[in-house]
Amino acid sequence: MGMANTAKAEQDTTAAARLDVPVVVLSHRAPVQFRREQGKRLIRRGAGGLVTALVGLAGQLDDAVWVCAATTDEDSAAAAEHDGGAVPLVMTAEPTPADGNEADDAPVLGVRLVDVDPEQHEDFYQVVSNPLLWFIQHGLYGLATSPNIGRTERDAYEQGYVPVNEAFADAVAEEVEARGGRALVMLHDYHFYLVADRVRARCPEVVLSHFIHIPWPGPDAWLVLPADIREQILRGLLGNDVVAFHTERFARNFLLCCQELLGLPIDLDTKTVRVGGRVVAARTYPISIDVDALVEMATSDEVEELAAELQRELLPDGQQLLLRVDRTDPSKNIVRGFLAFELLLEQHPELVGTLRFLAFLQPSRLDVPEYSDYLGRIGAIVARVNARHARAGVAPIDLRLQEHYPTAVAAYTLCDAVMVNSLADGMNLVAKEAVTVSRHHAVLCLSESTGAHAELGAFAVTLNPFDIQQQADALYAALTMPARERADRQAAAANVVRGNDVAKWLDAQIADLRLLTGLWSEEPEGPRLAPAARD
Ligand code: G6P
Repeated sequence: MGMANTAKAEQDTTAAARLDVPVVVLSHRAPVQFRREQGKRLIRRGAGGLVTALVGLAGQLDDAVWVCAATTDEDSAAAAEHDGGAVPLVMTAEPTPADGNEADDAPVLGVRLVDVDPEQHEDFYQVVSNPLLWFIQHGLYGLATSPNIGRTERDAYEQGYVPVNEAFADAVAEEVEARGGRALVMLHDYHFYLVADRVRARCPEVVLSHFIHIPWPGPDAWLVLPADIREQILRGLLGNDVVAFHTERFARNFLLCCQELLGLPIDLDTKTVRVGGRVVAARTYPISIDVDALVEMATSDEVEELAAELQRELLPDGQQLLLRVDRTDPSKNIVRGFLAFELLLEQHPELVGTLRFLAFLQPSRLDVPEYSDYLGRIGAIVARVNARHARAGVAPIDLRLQEHYPTAVAAYTLCDAVMVNSLADGMNLVAKEAVTVSRHHAVLCLSESTGAHAELGAFAVTLNPFDIQQQADALYAALTMPARERADRQAAAANVVRGNDVAKWLDAQIADLRLLTGLWSEEPEGPRLAPAARD
């Protein structure tokens, strides 16, 4: 799924192409996975926009390394062969080891797979990152009863989250030091809030940014965490030059947290906070999708065939199709979505038999009890709705618990409406994908609590994630909307997505960060990051 040639040619004139400094990226998920099958090593590239965008960037740089977690035995074996350092790879659709003889423009990326002690990793990932941080940031706790923060949680923080963050910070710092102490470091997500501060302490000349892909709530939500822990998290993040979010609201909430919880002076106009003689900027860059790659996939033979199969199976008599595509995450509000669908069928019985709901859900984080419980609740509500509303042996909801991206894309091309009713969502790329490749002018039914709503809300039918009746009414409005209006809304939404694809998302960040690397020059009046340049 490479970047189309035209997009690449365009990109070469961008800030990324003019970047002549090394880049170090950190995320928990790796851009590749090593596996061993029948004695043979296989290297599989990860899916998703972030990988595509950053691999596109790597192709334009002389020196890029991605630090991430080793998750398979073969990941660990590959890392060990390089003494724990980066494994150089040519990041084509099927990555191969780089041997130094590649063409200049080959997308060579060093992948440093960090091995973490399994017990520490479990505390870091299954107790602190998901659920504790994820739940606080998505507002998922019912505070009358949860969370209870006791010995287990404190130990998991101190003996899991902290040392794992230290290990990753040390790996990043080593990569920066190997490049003479000057590099642009791009950290990602809630797994690594303590990294920036430690990297800066070791590498004072580094330029550091941290992109937070999930919502950032206001100060009150963070009061759930013990004072010392929430302060360490904020101080850790303030090691960055830029802390980046998908929406203005999240950026503002972050600054308010610095003011309320740390007593630091903030400026909401320039979106900055002062800390220890430095200025840290909160910035907004809404992430997007790789439009060219998605369109290419949507028109591939594989997806065409899958769409024809779905059509035959689900819509043999011209039924309408409502679609949702999600990880089975409580933040996605899947159960309330089915309750709203149940109301819709009760209040509009003419839809029974003429409307199918395809729920294409990828089981996620099942080692975390909250997630496995949620999956159980999904199964129960689907069974109830299907038992009540089946007609002639056909159940209205088709629940598919699987991960197969081409099938999801095939369903996007076919559906009449797509439901995204998340309780809270940093961005939500399903919304962007669906409107981009829809062939039936799908109406986007979009929660007001998604980052995507800031860009696409004007063309969507807005959902209140808590109001089941409102959701049922909105679905009805979407499914009965005049054809002309559907077409206009979908075209307008698709235009917005095309106008700001993932390459632009990355380029806007690089353009801002590049100004900061100007501080490395000897000139006393070196460039500064323009206040709120992107806002
Ligand atoms: C969200 C987070 C990512 C995470 C992904 C999948 O999109 O922002 O950091 O990788 O969910 O979650 P998982 O726990 O499977 O990596």
